Amino acid sequence: MSAWIFGYGSLIWRPDFSYVERRTAWIAGWSRRFWQGSTDHRGVPGDPGRVVTLVREDGSRCWGRAYRIESGNGDEIFDRLAYREKGGYDRISLDLHFAVPGSAPVSGFVYFANPDNPNWIGPAPLNDIARQVRRSHGPSGANTEYVLQLAAALRDMGVEDAHVFALADLVKGGGAP
Ligand code: BEZ
Repeated sequence: MSAWIFGYGSLIWRPDFSYVERRTAWIAGWSRRFWQGSTDHRGVPGDPGRVVTLVREDGSRCWGRAYRIESGNGDEIFDRLAYREKGGYDRISLDLHFAVPGSAPVSGFVYFANPDNPNWIGPAPLNDIARQVRRSHGPSGANTEYVLQLAAALRDMGVEDAHVFALADLVKGGGAP
């Protein structure tokens, strides 16, 4: 038996667990947004950075990476992810769709920040988000690095995300003083 985990943030480029298979995948009806505060990775308490979460949006697709893990490793992997992502994420199950035409969707686990969690920040103009990202640092490094690594990983996969790419351009180009 095995289980699937879908990554749409740092799990795309740094899964930190062993897996038996990795596929490009998407989830339907969700968009990736930099609306979750990070006080333990890319910011600090009182001066949070911004990291991604998922928000419902009809007709939208969020692309990421699906990892198939041996279910015998599941408890250890989920414990580790629960610790790593302890800043406000819940684990939910969603259908994962694969890039391979005709392949059937599978159920997979996804981390999702509920808007009632204490680190939730929510929407803001993209220039304000870029400004916050550019000034934020935390134990895992610069918030800018997180945005640029995510954008680079999505480009490597050949998938689109207008919100991520626009933010990456702003933080890279110094467009948000
Ligand atoms: C991820 O998919 O990379 C992820 C996003 C938020 C929390 C945990 C994992």
